[in-house]
Amino acid sequence: MKKDFAILGIESTCDETSAALLVGGKKLFSNVIYSQIEEHKKYHGVVPELASRAHAAKIATVITEALNGHDIDCVAFAHGPGLPGGLMVGRVAAQTLANFKKVPILGINHLEGHLFACEFEDGEAKNPLSFPLVALVVSGGHTELWYVKNYGQYKVLGRTRDDAAGEAFDKVAKLLGLAYPGGPQVSAQALKGRRDAVDFPRPLLPGTWDFSFSGIKTAVSYYLRDHKDVNVPDVCASFEQAVCETLVKKTLLAAQKYKVKQVAVGGGVAANSLLRDMMTSEGSKLGITVRFVPRKMSSDNAAMIALAAYKRLQYAGEEALQKKWNININPNLKVKNWGK
Ligand code: KG4
Ligand code: ZN
Repeated sequence: MKKDFAILGIESTCDETSAALLVGGKKLFSNVIYSQIEEHKKYHGVVPELASRAHAAKIATVITEALNGHDIDCVAFAHGPGLPGGLMVGRVAAQTLANFKKVPILGINHLEGHLFACEFEDGEAKNPLSFPLVALVVSGGHTELWYVKNYGQYKVLGRTRDDAAGEAFDKVAKLLGLAYPGGPQVSAQALKGRRDAVDFPRPLLPGTWDFSFSGIKTAVSYYLRDHKDVNVPDVCASFEQAVCETLVKKTLLAAQKYKVKQVAVGGGVAANSLLRDMMTSEGSKLGITVRFVPRKMSSDNAAMIALAAYKRLQYAGEEALQKKWNININPNLKVKNWGK
């Protein structure tokens, strides 16, 4: 690959329409993000039909702004997992551009993007991950634990059986009458509350690496049903404590079991301060280094898609560079090993 190889990344899996240009696998020329939060706020969650329409309305402007006249050598778009309507908008935009420019197109797994976003710092991918590691990808749609031997070499250890951790934050926020997205709201309230006020369950599901967060959310709803004059900060602090303890315990147990010294955490919930503090301090007691995605890069963005594409070109080479113009979307895409 030439030194200034330019990859246009496109992200449209959920409620952010984003395009980014990554040059030479390192320098972020742009990372334009249009967030649809305002459109979904009054429904306390993402409405797929509205999301598709907003992606269709914004994608051309977002891409034009990201390119700003720059030429490209490759187009990469998130082809799953995500909402079908949004994925199709990304696919059509990516295929049109790649076909017109006669450059290769890559379909990237959105969750791999969340992991690689950990490498960014100050607009540059300058902090390579060290392998092997255990990765926790924790967002509004997913909660997954992977053993990662190297770039593109994954073993999925477990995933949530019901709600994702971010989804639980969003649902609890709704129960408490707090705004969407719920994570930052619950977290802000939690700062004023007592973390031991209510003993919500810690669903550790021993014997598996899976997660389950719907029970904690249900416990919150029963607590609200059974108590008058609820102290909102106390409920938020206790809920946040229960979720974070569960995530931290299972992730660090997996790191010990798989004998790795590194843990990487990506996805929207990785912005959570309690999770960051708890994972880092508990990890250090075990001699495990914890890498978090920078807060600015934790939620959905196209820079992470472009970086995942660059890594794939570097590590999977020719196979990845074949000029295919047609890449299907897959709303339930699972993480897969890259072919050598
Ligand atoms: O990765 P992301 O932007 O979108 C998905 O791929 O789902 O993650 C969004 C999720 C939302 O559920 C949001 O409530 C949660 O991340 N989130 C947080 C925080 N900031 C965002 N959850 C807990 N604490 C936060 N500070
Ligand atoms: Zn995401």
